[in-house]
Amino acid sequence: MDLFEYQARNLFAKHGVPVLPGAVARTADEARAIATQLGGQVVVKAQVKTGGRGKAGGVRLAADPAEAASHAAAILGMDIKGHRVHQVLVTAASEIAEEYYLSFLLDRANRTFMAMASREGGVEIEQVAVERPEALALVPINPLTGVDQDIAREVLNQGGFPAEVIEAAVDVVTALWRVFVAEDATLVEVNPLVRTPDGTVLALDGKVTLDDNAEFRQPGHAELVDSDTTDPLERAARERDLNYVKLDGEIGIIGNGAGLVMSTLDVVAYAGEAHGGVRPANFLDIGGGASAEVMANGLEIILLDPAVRSVLVNVFGGITACDEVARGIVAAFELLASRGEQVTRPLVVRLDGNNAELGRQILAAAALPGVEQVDTMDGAARRVAELAALAGV
Ligand SMILES: Nc1ncnc2c1ncn2[C@@H]1O[C@H](COP(=O)(O)OP(=O)(O)OP(=O)(O)O)[C@@H](O)[C@H]1O
Ligand SMILES: [Mg+2]
Repeated sequence: MDLFEYQARNLFAKHGVPVLPGAVARTADEARAIATQLGGQVVVKAQVKTGGRGKAGGVRLAADPAEAASHAAAILGMDIKGHRVHQVLVTAASEIAEEYYLSFLLDRANRTFMAMASREGGVEIEQVAVERPEALALVPINPLTGVDQDIAREVLNQGGFPAEVIEAAVDVVTALWRVFVAEDATLVEVNPLVRTPDGTVLALDGKVTLDDNAEFRQPGHAELVDSDTTDPLERAARERDLNYVKLDGEIGIIGNGAGLVMSTLDVVAYAGEAHGGVRPANFLDIGGGASAEVMANGLEIILLDPAVRSVLVNVFGGITACDEVARGIVAAFELLASRGEQVTRPLVVRLDGNNAELGRQILAAAALPGVEQVDTMDGAARRVAELAALAGV
């Protein structure tokens, strides 16, 4: 999960990374009130989960509360690279002597953690990395020993930080590492890390990505989920512990295993081209143990989507064999009926793999209304696309 800047800033503060005072506002009046409380010049910053906010006019300096309110009014509602601005961070303005870059991240290719540091911050670091790679130091971090003061000093040295800054920045770097470890982050990035004219080192911006796999031991992270931009269906799916992503099409997809579901999306999109361009309506991986309850919850979410005209259930039996999945589908229909819900759109089921034959027999014997079976993935994709096209006329 990517965080907003203000959320990153709050985590920074919690772990002792120096940040400026500020608060988040959803209206111009709130921005004015925060600016009044802060006093002096403030910066009004769009809170969107994308870069380049400054260039897009989403970061503006205000001399007083009235100007903070008018900047907030201009920024709220803005569209920055497809992200609508619902909130602004109003923060104290800092004097800046120099801007640097510092980050910790998971280096998947080398199976370790890495620090990136550059004396040249504030600008787009991707550009620095391409145009002048020597200006960006990449330092592998041993995950067992982490970042102590010596290693922090080494990172800053390699990044070409001026000697007088290094001592002031060492504690900031170790605090950023604490954020990375304690919060189970896969990215902690500060751009710019600044030195003020009096020699203080501060994080003026923050970008944090949290590792969703650590959710079980990070109960506090649940409240960082963004409810403004989370799709309501995705939220409902999350409440049911389903791996669901809303897409734009008309064909509901249920499969077991992320890889199978991904290829199902491709095959269905391809088949849909021959049927007026119908497309997958979602990604839904019900995982290995496709129990009746999981199947019922999955069907329920998919049928909540009014755009869905037909549904493809594509299961490859493995440890959970096809007969269990077939019983799951039958039980799911009963469960939905008991919740007072009808499966009103046609369902195409393709079962293959372990105990496929038995699974197909169970499903055929149940004769569920609107359910048909097709034995191949391509055939099932063509049929479900055809049904979606028929339902659309
Ligand atoms: N509190 C502040 N006081 C003074 N200047 C600031 C402050 N916050 C940001 N700035 C200036 O604005 C520039 C852009 O800010 P910031 O890095 O937060 O946004 P951005 O880089 O445009 O967006 P993103 O980080 O999303 O790409 C900074 O490099 C800095 O020069
Ligand atoms: Mg920035």
